[in-house]
Amino acid sequence: MELPFAESWRIKMVEPIRTSTRQEREEWIRQAHYNLFQLPAEQVYIDLLTDSGTGAMSDRQWSAMMMGDESYAGARSFFRLRDAIHRITGFEYVIPTHQGRAAENVLFSALVKAGDIVPGNSHFDTTKGHIESRKAFAVDCTIDEAKDTQLEHPFKGNVDIAKLDNVLAENADKVPFVIVTITNNTAGGQPVSLQNLRDVRAICDKYGKPLVLDSARFAENAYFIKTREEGQEGRSIKEIVLDTFALADAMTMSAKKDAIVNMGGFIATRRAEWYEAAKVYCIPFEGYLTYGGMNGRDMEALAVGLDENTEFDSLHTRIHQVQFLASLLDEYGVPYQRPAGGHAIFVDASKVLPNIPKEEFPAQTLTVELYKEAGIRSCEIGYILADRDPVTRENRFGGLDLCRLAIPRRTYTDNHMRVIAAALRNVFERRDEITRGYRITEEAELMRHFTVKLAPAE
Ligand SMILES: Cc1ncc(COP(=O)(O)O)c(C=O)c1O
Repeated sequence: MELPFAESWRIKMVEPIRTSTRQEREEWIRQAHYNLFQLPAEQVYIDLLTDSGTGAMSDRQWSAMMMGDESYAGARSFFRLRDAIHRITGFEYVIPTHQGRAAENVLFSALVKAGDIVPGNSHFDTTKGHIESRKAFAVDCTIDEAKDTQLEHPFKGNVDIAKLDNVLAENADKVPFVIVTITNNTAGGQPVSLQNLRDVRAICDKYGKPLVLDSARFAENAYFIKTREEGQEGRSIKEIVLDTFALADAMTMSAKKDAIVNMGGFIATRRAEWYEAAKVYCIPFEGYLTYGGMNGRDMEALAVGLDENTEFDSLHTRIHQVQFLASLLDEYGVPYQRPAGGHAIFVDASKVLPNIPKEEFPAQTLTVELYKEAGIRSCEIGYILADRDPVTRENRFGGLDLCRLAIPRRTYTDNHMRVIAAALRNVFERRDEITRGYRITEEAELMRHFTVKLAPAE
């Protein structure tokens, strides 16, 4: 008999979690204004809000933390981190930051000005926020296939090269750089192929533009390149990662994802002039250049995490769990962005709750229903997150409206996946009874989803 698949680790420490009653949850979600970000974590049973900073560190990471050098300037831990980043990505210059959006803030302060255009593939909300808050424009050039959740495509995160070429042909003088997000979170944790990155690089070279990679999940992206792209299966994750970054001028990194730390990020680049320009903003925004918002001990854990999570077994265990959840949803007929992404399942809310009009936010409604059903906290990646158009101030209903089940790394077991799938099935089965969604009662101008207040639409 062939042996079944099992995780590439065993468990050394556990944390209790508890269930609640439906009555409790109905009251709690009302108090949270139907926004799951507003729930105290203790009111959540299985927390799938994000895979960011929620993973379980390894024994090597914990022990590395004891070696942290907390010197203000020139800490040993910084040099260890810089060397690890150089070894894994090939980039020479490194600025640590406290998380990914801080890396964006520091780098974009140096590079983006009012009126600029930054094309890419479905910019993440903080990336878009850092572009739009500078009165610049983020132009999404993701392939159209990503919009059809039921279409199978191995690299739905890809950039549409013709769209990118058109944006550059018309606006080259306004484009400071092109940014590609690997994996493409907003389109469903979907990977970008190495060939697509090579094609993007060729377009960048045609117009003399640099390329930045938003690299929060670069290791998962490399896993998909290895397992799905022709000619790549014999190569190691570390080789693919080096090839990926060789195509770029710089990266911004939220280390809370693929470096499996609870807090941390960085900018890395091969351009000395970008490093010099960004340095100026790191000091006032983040801190001195050799800690940039991080403790020495956290830089140690980050260096180890980068190394460990660019190994095949670690990534295979993780993606296997996401695919296991997907297989249960397939069994129950629950529609999601296909194929399953790297870090999450993105449930297609418009198909699960067909009776909710877009003005009443189907994906947000689904997050609330799933919470009420089983205490599961998911995240709306849809019309609320899309914010309003900066010029017309109208809601942006053009993209996908998804409910993201982000799976923290090494945190939940396959039994938790079974509970999640069963809860979604229950909501899906009573979809005809769910006819009203929510209306916004209060919202921020930018990145409103974190703090938005909602009320039932009737
Ligand atoms: C693709 C992508 N870029 C940037 C960020 C921002 O990183 P952070 O949350 O560490 O600020 C995230 C966070 O989820 C992300 O998914």
